[in-house]
Amino acid sequence: MDIIRVEGGHLLEGRVAVSGAKNSALKLMAATLLAPGKTTLENVPNISDVHVMGKVLKYMGATIEVLDEHTLCIDTSAVNSWEAPYELVAKMRASTAVMGPLLGRMGKAKIAMPGGCNLGARKIDMHILGLEALGVEFDTDHGYIHADASKGLVGATVTLEFASVGATENLIMAAVKAKGTTVIDNAAREPEIVDLANMLNKMGAQIAGAGTPVVTIEGVDELHPVTHRVVGDRIEAGTFIVAGALMASDAGVEVVGFSPIHLGMVIKKMEDMGIVIDRIEGGVRVHRAERIEPVDIQTLPFPGFPTDMQAQVMVLSSLADGNSIITENIFENRFMFASELVRMGANIRVESHHAMVHGVEGLSGAQVTSPDLRGGAALVVAGLIAEGYTEVSAIHHIDRGYERFVEKLRALGAQVERLTVPDFIDD
Ligand code: EPZ
Repeated sequence: MDIIRVEGGHLLEGRVAVSGAKNSALKLMAATLLAPGKTTLENVPNISDVHVMGKVLKYMGATIEVLDEHTLCIDTSAVNSWEAPYELVAKMRASTAVMGPLLGRMGKAKIAMPGGCNLGARKIDMHILGLEALGVEFDTDHGYIHADASKGLVGATVTLEFASVGATENLIMAAVKAKGTTVIDNAAREPEIVDLANMLNKMGAQIAGAGTPVVTIEGVDELHPVTHRVVGDRIEAGTFIVAGALMASDAGVEVVGFSPIHLGMVIKKMEDMGIVIDRIEGGVRVHRAERIEPVDIQTLPFPGFPTDMQAQVMVLSSLADGNSIITENIFENRFMFASELVRMGANIRVESHHAMVHGVEGLSGAQVTSPDLRGGAALVVAGLIAEGYTEVSAIHHIDRGYERFVEKLRALGAQVERLTVPDFIDD
């Protein structure tokens, strides 16, 4: 099995450039279904989730040319299927992002019901309710969702019960081809949604208000292929900023390739914790914290504190001078990371959606298991400051969303390596 082993105590310095955002790239890839022809995506992260989304599109008849490691030319001219198969959806829930584009392109979609994941149920009821308002009829059988828009997509006003990222995206991608006007109220405002709307508008869509709670879409008859550059990954950036806050040398660590405004609440909260973060061209420079102040954090839809940075900030707060409360409002089960961090000496008590973090003097290296993508990366970051060696397993989670995570950390001076070790022999 592959593990990541990190030796704590080595200072970091230099500059790291983050990759394109996973949570934008996957939707942009799905959206190419709406514009028959060759769409070129630049700054695409070379991560396993992108490879899976590529398989989904190829399954439907698209062809993908890899122009270079981060540039894909996706030709959806010959797409002739409307099915996202179980074996791919089971691998990656984000495959459900093809539902909206398939309805806009083919008038139907057959999507394996996404299972749960380590974060909780991950339902898509809001996707379905919103699409039904646009005239889509749904049926489910044998673990598949059958969506039928053969009577036509008709613009409507949809108020989301919760500002769901995925539901907002699927609705936008169906509404761009609906007859008339669609208004999405209580829409998610994440920067990745703005990136998607920007590309769709370049393709000929008419979307206004992306990034605000009310998104208005005027349906059009057709969209044309374009070239688009994926927005920088704010969560990857935040992960490296936390690493720098823990272990930067006097020169600080520079994190570039993203927009700091996309990480506003994270930077504010880290500054509240006493961490010095300078704005620089293309990103930020972060300095090592002499002393970490405790902080209270609520994870919320953008521009609130992102749930995808919850584990990383928990590492910081575990070393604060005092008690922090971290409340997870987005997912019902995103504290498994806490129990791994406790194995490294953190003092955390979880009560329902709240984690009470009592700061400790230091962490100690241990063998730990990645609970999910962000928790895995946060465990490696914790290992940078922990005494001794930390060995992180189940690192396939990390590979889903972090391109060359080990190499990027090594380039900053971390003593970290990827190893293959024998699996434990079952008795
Ligand atoms: C996206 O997931 C991201 N994934 C997640 O990033 C991110 O944590 C999340 O948005 C919130 O920012 C991708 O973009 C691929 P939601 P998504 O719809 O779209 C519930 C990472 O680490 N819900 O906003 O699934 C849902 O169960 C990943 O990169 C319903 O109940 O997020 C969850 O509890 C993890 N019904 C909450 O809402 C629905 O119809 C947030 O879901 C839809 C969602």
